[in-house]
Amino acid sequence: MQIPIYQKIKEAVQSIKNNSSIEPEVGIILGSGLGSFAEKIENQVVIPYTEIPHFHGTSIEGHAGKMILGSFRGISIACLQGRFHFYEGYPMEDVVFPTRMICGLGIQTLILTNAAGGVNTRFRPGDLMVIEDHLNLMGDNPLRGSQVAHLGPRFPDLSEAYSKTCVEALINSAKETGLLLHRGVYAGLLGPTYETPAEIKMLRTLGADAVGMSTVPESIAANHLGVRVAGISCITNLAAGLSTQKLTHQEVMETSKMSAKKLTELLENAIPKLVHRPNKEGL
Ligand code: HPA
Repeated sequence: MQIPIYQKIKEAVQSIKNNSSIEPEVGIILGSGLGSFAEKIENQVVIPYTEIPHFHGTSIEGHAGKMILGSFRGISIACLQGRFHFYEGYPMEDVVFPTRMICGLGIQTLILTNAAGGVNTRFRPGDLMVIEDHLNLMGDNPLRGSQVAHLGPRFPDLSEAYSKTCVEALINSAKETGLLLHRGVYAGLLGPTYETPAEIKMLRTLGADAVGMSTVPESIAANHLGVRVAGISCITNLAAGLSTQKLTHQEVMETSKMSAKKLTELLENAIPKLVHRPNKEGL
């Protein structure tokens, strides 16, 4: 018999609790090549995905596939290094499983990071963008299917899919650290192909500033659970048609390693500002 999703999440949450008594307040998902922030976490408890019930390993280069629990400047955090993409063939339920699990640990803020192509012509490779909103162009939604009341409402509001308070906190951090931080709309596409130049023109017309293949399902799943979301895109390349160069995963990885330094600097300043302590318990 198929195990209900809520039970799977509870089992994964319980297995984490058996490994560590840390009660994370902030969760972070680190995107492709953006794992370096994890080194800043103190008193680390590292749990490979393979040891978490109902989790998959990760297969894409640049995705380590582990969860790191620990603290940063006195704030307890849960960090996921490596994510599952819809283009890998996983059902949406598996794509958002890690998100639901860290939300289930009781975090109040989830920081989503990703590598993205710059659709806005002012953006340059290596720039950072705070996500103010998204376009779900993945052709699916993680909440499709039967309603699971424990996880959230049938028709959740997404008018602040990325919390305005978090956007402001990130902008203030960028000012304090002297980092250039754009703000804009992230378009989430299925992939795994990069876009055609015509698709990029279309995305710009639709109001997108950056494009990628992740983050949107995670933001939806976290909002559904009542967890506020902050999002940061690392612009790894000019989107298709904006440069004479062809797009390669290698270029994306190389630039994201460079951006990881800036992202880490921004997160170091922003995390204390992103803590939010209402009376809320995990699953
Ligand atoms: N398109 C889609 N996803 C991406 C890109 C891009 O140009 N760069 C990094 N991830």
